Amino acid sequence: MTDSTTTLFERVGGAEFFERLVDAFYEGVATDEVLLPLYPEQPDLTGARHRLTLFLIQYWGGPTTYMNERGHPRLRMRHMPFHVGPLERDRWLVHMTAAVETVCTDPDVPDGIADELLTYFVPAAEHLRNDTGLPISSSRPSHG
Ligand code: HEM
Repeated sequence: MTDSTTTLFERVGGAEFFERLVDAFYEGVATDEVLLPLYPEQPDLTGARHRLTLFLIQYWGGPTTYMNERGHPRLRMRHMPFHVGPLERDRWLVHMTAAVETVCTDPDVPDGIADELLTYFVPAAEHLRNDTGLPISSSRPSHG
């Protein structure tokens, strides 16, 4: 049951849940030959891990440390330097779905949390896609 009077951050027991989620997610990214090369500091994913953890904590109603460190999220703008086509979106979601399933099997995590998280992640990943993957949007010259 979803208690709409408390934030998801509170219902999952706070920051530690998001640390476990993001750790599980980046374990997948670290082995992904499509996604890993996009990460500017790879193979060191410590900074990326830190930023995603703080963002998710803030998004789900926890402390706003992300905003204090990074300013307004503006995630679409921040993803523009990286090629996010359908393939990247889907691989990102594969790793995030697996991470959500892993952390939500903990009996301390209330029912429904996995659905709530994925109801956000799926359209958010699509929103951050900045390439259609169709020939018309490719960087190939259209003439010659
Ligand atoms: C729900 C979807 C997503 C969320 C919530 C999300 C969130 C974030 C956040 C908070 C950052 C750090 C921004 C900053 O403060 O600089 C970030 C960075 C990044 N994201 Fe995403 N992202 C999503 C989807 C994706 C997808 C689909 C890709 C596919 C390529 C991607 C690739 C990256 C890369 C390469 C970085 C740079 C890593 C870094 O911070 O050093 N993201 N993302």
